[in-house]
Amino acid sequence: MTSLIPHLKERIGQRDYTIGVIGLGYVGLPAVVRFGEVGFRVLGFDIDPDKVKRLTAGESYIRHLPADRIVSLSRSGRFEATTDFVRLGEADALLVCVPTPLTRHRNPDLQYVTQTADAIARTLRVGQLICLESTTYPGTTEELLLPRFEARGLKAGEDFFLVFSPEREDPGNTHFGLATMPKVLGGVSDACGELGEALYTTIVPTVVRVASPKAAEMTKLLENIYRAVNIALVNELKMLSDRMGIDIWEVIHAAATKPFGFQAFYPGPGLGGHCIPIDPFYLTWKAREYGMATRFIELAGEINHAMPTWVVGKVVEALNGRGKSLNGAKVLVLGVAYKPNIDDQRESPALEILTLLRQQGAQVNYSDPHVPRCYGHRHYPDLDLTALPLTTETLQTQDAVILVTNHSAFDVEFIGHHARLIVDTRNTFKGFPPNKIVKA
Ligand SMILES: NC(=O)c1ccc[n+]([C@@H]2O[C@H](COP(=O)([O-])OP(=O)(O)OC[C@H]3O[C@@H](n4cnc5c(N)ncnc54)[C@H](O)[C@@H]3O)[C@@H](O)[C@H]2O)c1
Repeated sequence: MTSLIPHLKERIGQRDYTIGVIGLGYVGLPAVVRFGEVGFRVLGFDIDPDKVKRLTAGESYIRHLPADRIVSLSRSGRFEATTDFVRLGEADALLVCVPTPLTRHRNPDLQYVTQTADAIARTLRVGQLICLESTTYPGTTEELLLPRFEARGLKAGEDFFLVFSPEREDPGNTHFGLATMPKVLGGVSDACGELGEALYTTIVPTVVRVASPKAAEMTKLLENIYRAVNIALVNELKMLSDRMGIDIWEVIHAAATKPFGFQAFYPGPGLGGHCIPIDPFYLTWKAREYGMATRFIELAGEINHAMPTWVVGKVVEALNGRGKSLNGAKVLVLGVAYKPNIDDQRESPALEILTLLRQQGAQVNYSDPHVPRCYGHRHYPDLDLTALPLTTETLQTQDAVILVTNHSAFDVEFIGHHARLIVDTRNTFKGFPPNKIVKA
């Protein structure tokens, strides 16, 4: 049988090739824009009709992705968004960017991936390239996707092509994006890897080929576990340093002057976002199949998970020192997005902190220039707050202010000047009078 690869590569080169992106969220939408901007026709698929409607109207629902990029793509006539999954067969390549959360019992919840795989299988045709981008445990591509597709009577590497290529998107990062970062990729066969590489080379500077989808899946998990474990390490050292009267921030900055062998990680109020608190546990689950416990992951999870409680403990201590109790105190949380300069609240430690404060009788409020309303979270159904404007009066009437997320839009001088007590989880208020600032 003649290989389809040379012909498909030629079509990629000529942009006579349609990209379908499934799941138009924080990962999928930037991929749509990037492929569109380098000249491909792009079809976006999502089960959420509201997202499709907004994209069709030229709106962006991701704050750091400007709407003008969507508008100019739509005007080019090369982009369409749809909820009609029968159209999956129109795409030459399908990128799967759907969520991979944990279940209530903290096991992998692959329902979105398997639903998508079933939908693709229904319209799979000769020549299609399928790229799973969602973060998941090693084995997902070959154990969950491949059998569904081959059950259609087509053979991977000959009739259709299948790869795993993890996404390194870091929302809000102004230094690195899809266009500037190498992309790891592992194909089910050499032919799959070759076609995947040909496609992604059009949008990233380098494609890093690994031997298998499993190796690519593990690479993404290593990157995120590395962060989770190192953050836990500095969080533990932060608590110890606090007891010993040592400033952990000073220590980290000093250690970071070593020109080799040390990479600085910083403590904080706990992990947030869709990735670092969740992805490591995909591996923990899979490791059980191999009779292994992932002890570093579990320990890091335990320490990082305890951070909101520790921060609230520091608020209690600070108020006590002023003859006040948390019960009845007015407390303002600054920043509910899980990291600076974005609007994403998923798994944000601020949600846990607000809930813990409330459980102990505090009157809680928050302020966040990127999040006008804080509500509707899976684990915090009772939270429904509207952001307070950060005025002199707001600050002066609080018994304590907790800096959880250090957005650049926060006026540090202004807050430091007007707040009565600041519990600072990010070392943002260094240099302010120590009687006002409590590091946590
Ligand atoms: N957000 C990040 O920074 C980031 C970075 C790297 C990797 N990832 C990984 O990428 C994947 C997607 O994450 P995200 O942050 O973009 O999620 P998201 O929630 O922002 O977007 C997912 C989109 O998929 C849609 N969707 C759900 N089920 C679907 C289905 N069956 N068919 C079509 N669309 C469906 C949702 O409506 C939503 O629009 C996850 O595996 C995540 O771990 C995320």
